[in-house]
Amino acid sequence: MGSLAMLWPALFLLFPCQGQSSTTGVVERSTCGPCDERLFCNCSSRNYTYIPTVEIVDVLTLDLSSNSITTVAEDDLRDYEHLQTLDLHSNKIQSIHDRSFSHQLLALDLSNNQLDVLSPAWFSKLQSLQHLSLLGNGYRTLGPEGTFPLFSLRTLRFGNPGLEEVRRGDLVGVRQLNELEVYGNNLKRYDPGSLGDIWPLGVVTLHLRGPFQDDPALVSSIFRDVANPETSLVVADVLLTGKLSTGPFAVTNQQRTRSIMLRNSTLTDEAIVYLLKGHRTFFEARRTRHENLDTVYFRNIQVIDAYRFTSFLPVAFLLKYLRKISLINCTVFVMPCLTSTLLINLEHLDLSGNLLSDLTLTESLCHGKGYLKKLRVLNVSDNALKSLSLISQLVFRLDKLVHLDISQNAYTSMPPACSWPPTLTHLNLSWAKLRRVTPCLPQSLEVLDLGHNDLTFFHSVSLRALRELHLSGNKLMQLPPGWLLPSLEILLIQSNSLNMFGPLDLLHYRRLRELQVGWNRFVCSCEFVSFIVKMWGEAAESSVELVDRPETYLCDSPLPLQGQRLDKVQLSALECHPVLLVSTLCGFTLVSGILVGIVLWKLHAMWYLKMMWAWLKAKRNSRRQKRWNADPLCYDAFVSYSEHDEGWVEEFLVPELENSQPPLSLCLHKRDFLPGHWIVDNIINAMERSRRTLFVLSESFVHSEWCRYELDFSHFRLFDGNTDAAILVLLEPISKDNVPKRFCKLRKLMSSRTYLEWPTEEERRNEFWSNLRLAVRGDDTG
Ligand SMILES: *[C@@H]1O[C@H](CO)[C@@H](O)[C@H](O)[C@H]1NC(C)=O
Ligand SMILES: *[C@@H]1O[C@H](CO)[C@@H](O)[C@H](O)[C@H]1NC(C)=O
Ligand SMILES: *[C@@H]1O[C@H](CO)[C@@H](O)[C@H](O)[C@H]1NC(C)=O
Ligand SMILES: *[C@@H]1O[C@H](CO)[C@@H](O)[C@H](O)[C@H]1NC(C)=O
Ligand SMILES: *[C@@H]1O[C@H](CO)[C@@H](O)[C@H](O)[C@H]1NC(C)=O
Ligand SMILES: *[C@@H]1O[C@H](CO)[C@@H](O)[C@H](O)[C@H]1NC(C)=O
Repeated sequence: MGSLAMLWPALFLLFPCQGQSSTTGVVERSTCGPCDERLFCNCSSRNYTYIPTVEIVDVLTLDLSSNSITTVAEDDLRDYEHLQTLDLHSNKIQSIHDRSFSHQLLALDLSNNQLDVLSPAWFSKLQSLQHLSLLGNGYRTLGPEGTFPLFSLRTLRFGNPGLEEVRRGDLVGVRQLNELEVYGNNLKRYDPGSLGDIWPLGVVTLHLRGPFQDDPALVSSIFRDVANPETSLVVADVLLTGKLSTGPFAVTNQQRTRSIMLRNSTLTDEAIVYLLKGHRTFFEARRTRHENLDTVYFRNIQVIDAYRFTSFLPVAFLLKYLRKISLINCTVFVMPCLTSTLLINLEHLDLSGNLLSDLTLTESLCHGKGYLKKLRVLNVSDNALKSLSLISQLVFRLDKLVHLDISQNAYTSMPPACSWPPTLTHLNLSWAKLRRVTPCLPQSLEVLDLGHNDLTFFHSVSLRALRELHLSGNKLMQLPPGWLLPSLEILLIQSNSLNMFGPLDLLHYRRLRELQVGWNRFVCSCEFVSFIVKMWGEAAESSVELVDRPETYLCDSPLPLQGQRLDKVQLSALECHPVLLVSTLCGFTLVSGILVGIVLWKLHAMWYLKMMWAWLKAKRNSRRQKRWNADPLCYDAFVSYSEHDEGWVEEFLVPELENSQPPLSLCLHKRDFLPGHWIVDNIINAMERSRRTLFVLSESFVHSEWCRYELDFSHFRLFDGNTDAAILVLLEPISKDNVPKRFCKLRKLMSSRTYLEWPTEEERRNEFWSNLRLAVRGDDTG
């Protein structure tokens, strides 16, 4: 009990375009390539005159269309052992050898060649062949009986402008056919029953322009053979002008064909009325079935008398049954209100792609009086409508209206408020020129398409029921605030001016599942990139999924990343975590500073530094003094001793040396240091001005701070080149090992040079003094 739907679309390209193949081929038996991993070799449009070889052996699909091949010779396809699909359309083939095609072929396209005679031998081995096209050749008949012994064939296309006859036995052998196309615009003879043995056909396309005009009986007999309730009938290229030419459709009515389409056809309104009336006759015979005619579909039809056609008044008796009318791209500029009042059962009205204006739509919708009581879907897309407030008033009383498509119209602004039917859930306002959204948008909306407008903001409108929002192709810089759209599940906002967004922006979209944000002007900051990459990575877990392809996410800035795919961007740690990095670095520096400090402290670095500093300063001072003092060396020796050994120095050393002959002059800090000067200066000064330094070593010396200085300065002097400057006198035996480690100089001195030991025995003291005097006097040039 299928409902009877009449479908009349038209104008469709029926033939593949005839290739502009060149007249002379240049390539002969060459190798064609490359072939892809699906074993498909595209050798189309290469000027081949013969079938080329290919680089792989097991090719499955070979496209040789649009070449200049003239012959298929016996061995041409020998190498193609596994070939399943062979496309030879748009060549110049005139002859085919009987044994060219082998048995494993599943699809063969020989359309648009120059075959004048068809031979059964070509097809004799093709038991597996499922698809065959022979359209557009020169043959006038289908050859001898049984040309197509093709039991597996599912699709067959044949015919050409020269085809004159289809005879009874032509299609013997074809049993399983599902799709048949016959090009018979100039068919002269058809033996009834020729196509009748193939049953049931799914789709039949018939080009019968000539017969429709000259021989309706021939068309009728074809229709009788092919039209079944299960078959979709496509009638192409016809010109239907009146009762006579529409006559054959009576057959389809009788056979209860469910679907008839007219393609690339021209009809007069008279013809249309006859067509519909033809069905009426049918229905009058079975009155109970009137309601089965529920759909009228016209597309791309140039209606010669548009006004009368769209009035439908000649078939007014039918209008009350219609549930769906599509008049798409049919130059309709008005549907009279009178017609609308009769369409009491109409649920779906598609008037898209016509010439409706605000004025004529007002007429068609009867000034908003709401006559189309059952209308659920109204499509007036792609017309010349300008006023949103007008359309809202016109549909206000259509209290079943669910879906309103007013896309591709000339709306430039949205009024502050509108009145819509409360049932409206789908509104398509895309491809207009809207700059702002206002509370004009109905609160009942669940799906709203505002794509491809000029919107820069989507604020200030709360749509609490909205589930799906299309905003692609606008100029938005931010995601709409989520709290305005609490039910939103799908958001499309591609091709806008969005820079970035983050988890916070998505937080308020409590229900959001799918997001498409590609083709925006992304600023590829670290946070953003990692956020997006994370969304891709965790698609399964995170509640929001980015459903558009990653290659649509490109960086717009920073400049070095411009044009790069966001999923391929490499950002360095420095760019991504500057604070962390700097603090780590500081921490590291601090720790290593402390470590170095500890090490230095352990190594008495401060002490050395102090020494160095004092020494440098003293050097400078002494140099300055040298300039003033003519004779800087005014002492023979500077005596360095600790307080503890003061007694020995004053009691023994000074008298012994200063009173010797010739007397030696000694510098003693107690006596010779200039008061008021820094002690270090004094020490340095004294050492600088003495030829030698005499160290009176004892345990207390080693532990005396100042002595250490003195020792050290003398060490520096050693470096100055004055190698003999130090004389060591050991007042009591001290082992080198008792000397603290940091006095490496002292230890070195003690091991590197002999030192004078203060003898405890009286008798050896004279020897000591003379040695000492000798050492102090020494060799001045040393
Ligand atoms: C449409 O039909 C006309 C004849 O009515 C024919 O010349 C033309 O080639 C057809 N166009 C297509 C695309 O089939
Ligand atoms: C095969 O190649 C032709 C020309 O080189 C091209 O136009 C066509 O799109 C290709 N076909 C396929 C399926 O790649
Ligand atoms: C085929 O020949 C035409 C003209 O002879 C030439 O313009 C075209 O480039 C050739 N195509 C190939 C693939 O060689
Ligand atoms: C509208 O119909 C005309 C023929 O009537 C056709 O040429 C045109 O391509 C169609 N437009 C669309 C958008 O389908
Ligand atoms: C309205 O018509 C346009 C153009 O024919 C089409 O793209 C769109 O899908 C239609 N809308 C509905 C809701 O049928
Ligand atoms: C809105 O209309 C446009 C153009 O007519 C169409 O491409 C788009 O798919 C429609 N939107 C929805 C959500 O159906």
